Amino acid sequence: MSLQGKHIVLGITGSIAAYKSAILTRLLVKKGAEVQIVITSAGKEFITPVTLSALSGRPVISEFFTSGDGTWHSHVDLGLWADLMIVAPATAATIGKMANGIADNMLVTTYLSMKAPVFLAPAMDLDMYRHISTQRNIEKLRGDGIYIIDAAEGELASHLEGKGRMEEPENIVATLEQFFATGHDLEKKKIMITAGPTYERIDPVRFIGNFSSGKMGFALAEECASRGAEVILITGPSALSASHPNIVRVNVESAAEMYDAALQNFPQMDAAILSAAVADYRPEQKSEEKIKRSGKEKFTLSLISNPDIAASLGKIKEPGQLTIGFALETNDEEHNAMKKMEEKNFDYIVLNSLNDPGAGFGHDTNKVTILSRNGEKQSFALKSKDEVAKDIVDNAFGNGKLTMDN
Ligand code: C5P
Repeated sequence: MSLQGKHIVLGITGSIAAYKSAILTRLLVKKGAEVQIVITSAGKEFITPVTLSALSGRPVISEFFTSGDGTWHSHVDLGLWADLMIVAPATAATIGKMANGIADNMLVTTYLSMKAPVFLAPAMDLDMYRHISTQRNIEKLRGDGIYIIDAAEGELASHLEGKGRMEEPENIVATLEQFFATGHDLEKKKIMITAGPTYERIDPVRFIGNFSSGKMGFALAEECASRGAEVILITGPSALSASHPNIVRVNVESAAEMYDAALQNFPQMDAAILSAAVADYRPEQKSEEKIKRSGKEKFTLSLISNPDIAASLGKIKEPGQLTIGFALETNDEEHNAMKKMEEKNFDYIVLNSLNDPGAGFGHDTNKVTILSRNGEKQSFALKSKDEVAKDIVDNAFGNGKLTMDN
């Protein structure tokens, strides 16, 4: 998807780099975008609204009201009109205000009303940029789901060399094009993913676990988040980290904890992907003290059944909610997977092959067949788990299949 016809709110703040915003406006307009500029009072000291309105073909907005005729500029309407907002250049002051919701000008007020994704291209002196408070605010905004176009290194207006230059307009345009091209088909969808193993405690130092690394679930979480979804990743113990700001990670240890977290979150979700390797059984009794070697030849551990998270979600699933499960079968694979889909009320089931080298637990690759409730079947080659995640998401949610609005 190109920028043709896209509605873009361009926020401009008081930085020397504001001259680059004129070029940015020109490039966006050339690509067919409609650009509405919102500029701060300080921004106008660096570049005039006359230049910007001539380039964008629209009056530049700076104040809440036009002085003279009293026309109100609705930040709420702008928030609904926009397909994307970008603040470029973003000064330390504006970044601080945005991070803390200090809506004392038209630009930050527009940001707080924004329904569309928001990008920031910071520009400032190197010491200001690396200052702990600037970095804290940037991280806070990243955590709020704002896309940060990192400042570049080079010569600064202060004649010092370092990191703080606003990224070049050509590169900003390329980033925005890339953003629309990757398809934000899951924008605002809420997706819960279970991942990793569970640990079932035997005593304070021992547990029953499995070799699941969490890689498939984490790859699914990154894929869904990069397509705009708000992801809740409920994971058993895993060394992996989730990097996308749209992922909220919930750490659990046992199947019972995973069950509680999953059941609590699922009603608010559009979909759930159950990729965790949940222990079917746990010790009937957990010893509070470390179990000592008793000297006997035989030690018996009594196990009881864990709740089936997938099946429980299947029971409370509402129309419009989708669930996707995994199956690892050793014989009669497809038949058993279809049976599992029925029992757990999945809409799709991803069949992992145990017979292929490189597939399954711990590997970076996987080879899957995706079966749907209504009998569709697609088999894929051995691929990286990132690519498999894309295939699964395309198949189950692609082309607007995930349509329910919560
Ligand atoms: O029954 P089985 O364990 O083979 O089913 C696998 C599927 O069910 C996976 O999607 C897995 O995440 C899910 N599952 C679950 N809770 C369990 C056991 C399995 O959610 N207790």
